[in-house]
Formats: sequence, structure tokens, C-alpha cells
Amino acid sequence: MSVATGGAVEVVRTEPALREAIGRARRGGSRIALVPTMGALHEGHLRLVDRARERADFVVVSIFVNPLQFGPSEDLDRYPRTLDRDLALLEERDVHLVFCPDVEVMYPPGAGAVAVVPERGADTLCGASRPGHFRGVLTVVAKLFGLVAPDVAVFGRKDFQQAELIRAMVRDLNMPVVIDVAPVVRDGGGLALSSRNRYLSAGERETALAIPRSLEACARAFLAGERSVPRLRDIVHRGLERAGVRVEYVEIVDPGTLDAAEVAHVGSVCAVAGRVGSTRLIDNVVLGGMLDTDGGDVEPVG
Ligand code: PAJ
Repeated sequence: MSVATGGAVEVVRTEPALREAIGRARRGGSRIALVPTMGALHEGHLRLVDRARERADFVVVSIFVNPLQFGPSEDLDRYPRTLDRDLALLEERDVHLVFCPDVEVMYPPGAGAVAVVPERGADTLCGASRPGHFRGVLTVVAKLFGLVAPDVAVFGRKDFQQAELIRAMVRDLNMPVVIDVAPVVRDGGGLALSSRNRYLSAGERETALAIPRSLEACARAFLAGERSVPRLRDIVHRGLERAGVRVEYVEIVDPGTLDAAEVAHVGSVCAVAGRVGSTRLIDNVVLGGMLDTDGGDVEPVG
């Protein structure tokens, strides 16, 4: 089944329709890029699409709110679903194909005998409070890679641990796809764009700004010569607590291994998760850069 839209983007919801469209692109000699998403698209997602278009001729975006990566008390039911708007945005960005399967297409009755389970790096940071989350992420991403067989797949560094675990999966399971990781896209105040930001009231958004501000303070302290992990973490902790963000973790880790760094060095990542009201937010900065430079990330939008 293929659903017609007003413009050039083709929308498919089933595996046969997807395989047919991908086959056509392949036969036409196209290099294929995949951008996996859960929809409720914002400029952060759309920058990934732009990057994908620079790296391939045929861009596929998947929109699937993956139940396997949500815990029993998480926001699966409440997660924003804005498909019509998402399709209009993707059309504007010249995406070629959108795959938006129902749950039964991805997990038909009888499925579930095999999953991709991370052996390392999934019980720290977000994994500590979200058991099974990265098993759900890796399983759905592996399935999407199996379905689309992309040459390149684009992810955001906003979800730093996710991107590192996907890199590890591709390396350890010899998947023939290049993983490209894009910088964090922020709003004018510095808040990392997230589909969950729409849960925030105006007051909560103000509180949430402590997250990028504290990370920036940490990045500045590092640039000024501070290398002590406890002291750098403390800068972030204090900034968050003062503003009323309920801290889940503040860690400085080595990318690649995701192990806690003993001493901060250029390339270490300071990653945080915290709650503002009932909304869980995450963010990170690469030390040695700033939030608004090449080593870091910004390019404010909005
Ligand atoms: P989702 O949260 O929709 O994010 C889709 C992609 O957009 C991820 O690679 C994420 O890191 C990236 N992204 C989100 N906000 C961003 C921002 N502010 N700047 C840059 N990139 C950003 O992450 C998922 O979906 C799912 O876990 C998924 C990989 C699709 C598997 O279900």
C-alpha cells in the first residue's frame, strides 16, 4: 500500500511497499540514506534530513513510535503523534520516501524470538534508569537497517549514548552501513530541541534552560583549564539544582566506551538527564568545544 500525498514524497506503511520503493531506488543506482525517527518532528530532525540529502541521492525517513523502547511507566501513550504535519515538513525538505508502519507491521504476532541486546555501555547514563530501553532501540534500528539496507544512516548527538551504542552494534555485527552523527540543534535559548519539549509549560521551559547553561559553564571551566571530573560535575549539578531541575545524572564519560572519565580531556562528553515537572530531558556537550562552536554544537534556530 502506498499513500498518495500532495507532492513528491512517497509514503509507505508496509514491508512489501517499502521493499518495492527501495528496490526501485537501488535499480536507479541511488545511494540511500535513512533517518530513523519517532515523529513529532522538529528542526533537530530536519537537520538530520538535510545532512542525509548531502550524503545520498535517495532519503528515507522512518516514523515509528517504538513500543519496545518505552518502559511500563513511560510516556508511550502520551508521546506526541503529528503525522500529517510531519509529512508536510518532510515534503518541504525534499525527502523521497517516508516509512510509517503500524506496530503490527514492525512486530507482527509471533515476532519477538530475537532481539539485539547491548552487552556493554547500556547500564550507565540513561540505561541506568531505563532498563531495556537500548535493547528496544537497537532492535528497532537493526530491523530498519534490514528493511531499508541504507548506505548511510543519520542520528543526532542529542541522544549521545544511543548514537554510541548504534555505532557499536554496526561495528560488532558487521552491518554494512555508515553511521553519521549530527550535532545537537538548539533553540534560541540554548535548549536542545526535543519532541518532549512540548510537554513543558512556559515556566518549566525557563527552568529547563539551566541544562544548556550548566553544560556551557562546564565547557567554559574545562577550556579555562579545569580537568577534575568531580569539580566539573559539581558545576553542572549545582547549576541544575539551583534552578529546580531534578537531576537524574551528571556524568563525564569517554565516548566510545561510555566509561566514566577519570580525568576530563578534549573529547570527553559531559552528559546530563533531569526532570522538569514530569518531563525528562537529556543533553550533553563535548569538552574542548562550546555549545556554540564547531567543537560543540549550536547554530540556534527559532
Ligand atoms: P527521536 O527521538 O524521534 O529522534 C530521532 C533522531 O533525531 C535521533 O537520532 C535523535 O538523536 C535526533 N535528534 C532529536 N533531537 C535532536 C536535536 N535537538 N539535535 C540533533 N538531533 C536530534 O531517537 C529516536 O527517535 C529513537 O530512539 C529511534 C532512533 C528513532 C529508534 O526508535
